[in-house]
Amino acid sequence: MNLVGNLFGSSIGRKILMAVTGLVLIGFVIGHLVGNLQVFSHPDKLNGYAHFLQSLGPALWFARIGLLVCVAIHIWAATVLTLESKRARGGQAYGVKTWIQATLASRYMRWTGYVVLAFIIYHLAHFTLGTAQSATYKTALPAYKMAQDYHVLGFTVVPAGTAVLDVHRMVILGFQPPLVAGFYLLAVGLLSLHLLHGMDSLFQTLGWRNSRWSKSLRNVVILACLAYFAGNAAIPGAVLTGKLSPESAAKSAPAAHH
Ligand code: HEM
Repeated sequence: MNLVGNLFGSSIGRKILMAVTGLVLIGFVIGHLVGNLQVFSHPDKLNGYAHFLQSLGPALWFARIGLLVCVAIHIWAATVLTLESKRARGGQAYGVKTWIQATLASRYMRWTGYVVLAFIIYHLAHFTLGTAQSATYKTALPAYKMAQDYHVLGFTVVPAGTAVLDVHRMVILGFQPPLVAGFYLLAVGLLSLHLLHGMDSLFQTLGWRNSRWSKSLRNVVILACLAYFAGNAAIPGAVLTGKLSPESAAKSAPAAHH
């Protein structure tokens, strides 16, 4: 069998596929968080960043399709592995305790996974398509002129004066309903739990864990997941508590209608 056949056709291959696609998705969520944290800076920052991403054109679509393929493979491999382990489960091969632990972990990975998937679908409707936005948002014009340049690694990628979508305002208005902000908090909490176990398993699968490192690796994973949760929760949290509001955004950058 060739490499692709081996990866898709064997249990260990599917575990590797889960680990590698998981790793790519972790890279995405971390990058996405770092980008989103610009919401705490001047509105031009997040708006310039969003404009820069949009201006990538075909490269953006390439990344989007790549992410979608990773999500599909990740879910497919998880489903097949779960069905296989259900079929193989007799209880004899495992001690009762290990068996219960393994079942609990896979159940909790499945349920947190379902919620994260539902969250992604809602999130795309919320911010990317805008179909799940409130009427308040829809009547508030989301565009204004940029005041400053936007730089990436020292290069000006969006020159001053470019008309950009007001993504900063969209995010703040999007989190105004407490139910929406609350759902984001719940979803990123469950995603962080999903990452906690997922990162442990992927290190195991890829053979990056050994007895010498396993304890420190576990601590690094816990810290990383806590930091990830804190960073993500900070955004809807700041809107819920009024630290970020349409008024505070308007004060730092008056919207120019056009
Ligand atoms: C507080 C947390 C988050 C905020 C403020 C946020 C914000 C945004 C915004 C504003 C966009 C649309 C950008 C645009 O169309 O201009 C977006 C797109 C997206 N977000 Fe998030 N996001 C958050 C969390 C997440 C999480 C946890 C995930 C994944 C599990 C995620 C996955 C995505 C995806 C897949 C897209 C579509 C990217 C694309 O259209 O190319 N986001 N996000």
